[in-house]
Amino acid sequence: MATLVIHDIHLHFIDEGQGEPIVLVHGFPLSTEMWRPQRAVLAGRYRVLSVDLRGHGGSDPPTGAMTIETYADDIVALLDSLGIGQATIAGLSMGGYVTMALLRRHPERVRAVILLDTKMTPDTEAGKQGRNDMIQRAENEGAAAIADAMLPKMLTEATRQNDPELVEFARNLMASTTVPGIVGALQALRDRPDSTPALQAATVPALIVVGSDDTLTPPSDAAAMQAVMQQAQLQVIPGAAHLSTLEQPAAVNEALLAFLDQHVG
Ligand code: MLT
Repeated sequence: MATLVIHDIHLHFIDEGQGEPIVLVHGFPLSTEMWRPQRAVLAGRYRVLSVDLRGHGGSDPPTGAMTIETYADDIVALLDSLGIGQATIAGLSMGGYVTMALLRRHPERVRAVILLDTKMTPDTEAGKQGRNDMIQRAENEGAAAIADAMLPKMLTEATRQNDPELVEFARNLMASTTVPGIVGALQALRDRPDSTPALQAATVPALIVVGSDDTLTPPSDAAAMQAVMQQAQLQVIPGAAHLSTLEQPAAVNEALLAFLDQHVG
């Protein structure tokens, strides 16, 4: 566990293992804990940096309006502080949007990308309205209400019925995010640009991972990303919804290690 002051905020991260650096960027409204099943496995072969984005996990809440670019610039500042030039970036959902912002703004810092349960296109007008409604809800009812709203989209129905421990873990993770963290993330999600040109331009190796039952960023979105990228592999994870890392950790770990060992290790 470590904390560095980055752009005047305390950014919490976990730095484990040795070797080529891999940065893990979590989704909304989660934290480094969503990578718990991946961290130890990857750290056996790589240097794994899992970062709590502003307002999530142990990092300070944002002070002003948030953008996806701010999260990306925080990660670059963290790499600078640690003396790391290039890293492989793995991001799930919102973490994927941050990874695409890194490709847009700092391509020279990116060695390879892993895009999990995410998509390249921006919010529709209805989607933006949904973010504004969620902001209102977070402010009026708190993080627990957001966790309850998100949960059915995060895990498959089978997991929600049969694995109460995992459901509780995921729910607690979301419910412990601060309201300013949630509001900032929703602003950033709502206002994010189209990342199609960044993916088209990317020349780095890419792995795209998606849960077969992901309804938030479905396999069709993953296939669309693969189609525009120059060297992307696609892995569909059976029996997983949006939070594939927690729901099917063994299959996700296998896909990540195979890709990393081929292109990075
Ligand atoms: C996430 O999991 O990061 C969010 O659900 C992403 C989104 O809503 O677009």
